[in-house]
Amino acid sequence: MLRGLARAAVQRQGALRTRGSGGGAGVPVHVVDLRSDTVTKPGPAMRRAMAEAVVGDDDYGEDPTVRELQEKAATLLGVDRTLFVPTNTMANLISVMCHCQRRGSQLLLGQESHLHVYEQGGVAQIAGVHSHPLPDLPHGTLDLLELERTVTRGLGSPYHPVCELICLENTHSSSGGRVLPIDYLRQVRLLAQSCGVRVHLDGARLMNAAVALHVPPARIVEHCDSVSLCFSKGLGAPVGALVGGPKDFIEGAWRLRKALGGGMRQAGVLAAAALVGLADVEEVLLRDHQNARRFAQGLQELASPICSVDLAAVETNMVMVTVDGLPPQELCRRLQAVSADEVAQTGRAVRVLLFPWTGRSVRAVWHRDVSARDTELALRKWGFVLKQLGALRTG
Ligand SMILES: Cc1ncc(COP(=O)(O)O)c(C=O)c1O
Repeated sequence: MLRGLARAAVQRQGALRTRGSGGGAGVPVHVVDLRSDTVTKPGPAMRRAMAEAVVGDDDYGEDPTVRELQEKAATLLGVDRTLFVPTNTMANLISVMCHCQRRGSQLLLGQESHLHVYEQGGVAQIAGVHSHPLPDLPHGTLDLLELERTVTRGLGSPYHPVCELICLENTHSSSGGRVLPIDYLRQVRLLAQSCGVRVHLDGARLMNAAVALHVPPARIVEHCDSVSLCFSKGLGAPVGALVGGPKDFIEGAWRLRKALGGGMRQAGVLAAAALVGLADVEEVLLRDHQNARRFAQGLQELASPICSVDLAAVETNMVMVTVDGLPPQELCRRLQAVSADEVAQTGRAVRVLLFPWTGRSVRAVWHRDVSARDTELALRKWGFVLKQLGALRTG
């Protein structure tokens, strides 16, 4: 369904670009894309860095730009080594495969985690690992007692799968970009260590978590045995992720990357984009978080019975909007449409692109291609649609 909506949105954007005008004569259409932080396009500085990157054959370990990225990232994350891979999906799969090498290995993770829901069950399909999903709490955490019960249940038993790994996700995407508390990470690690289990962190948005907590990312990663980090989300690179961990872990990861077809040659053109993304990451993510919060506050001020936001849950670059009284798909359709009415009443034509998240919510995601002005325009468009629906108390 998400893919269908994405295709429709892009087709409509294409059509608009051709015509160059919106619902009213001569008014250009402004698009605010809040579907995901994966939609960013590399800007001029990133493109220049990619074009000018010094490269070599990374499968021979000879690409200086990839090496620079891996070394910088290792320092940033406080790990021995990191390994550049094409996607965060591959980074997670490699990590699970490194940790779970016995047949009958078990992995514990949140039932709404990206790894469990959106990565095609690769850990079962490709690695033969048995996943045991646990309910995610609203903060993106797992219940510690439930986790302990599950980890210890099969200890020493010849009947149960052997629990090898716990995977956490930070920030936690399906709960709306919630940040895992450091003390929770510490407790999970202590529990894991006491049972001989390791902890992998899906840190696709680790930098968002670090910025929100005002701590260096290494303060988060120190509670995990391995970590992934994605460059093509808030960091704005077109491609790339990494796996981080101890030296022997990364040596194993290198072999698995090769087996999975992720060994790249002159990958420095991609690593160069990731380095640009890292250079201003704190400033950009802080701005994304501020824009998301500004939007959430604005939406709350509209006080509509149709759309509500839990402001306390807006911790990073995502806003979960609860939708009552109409299907979220319909709200998304209206936010995306431009009409002569909108132009006549507001003097603007704005398309806000969004995905419905659940049957009762819509998730809006901020990223470096959405400015404070875009945020304001999205909010006004939201107000226009709610007014259209007769769902605003104020005229
Ligand atoms: C939390 C999380 N982990 C992993 C991934 C997978 O990343 P990729 O698309 O680079 O494979 C995503 C993608 O959105 C994600 O949100």
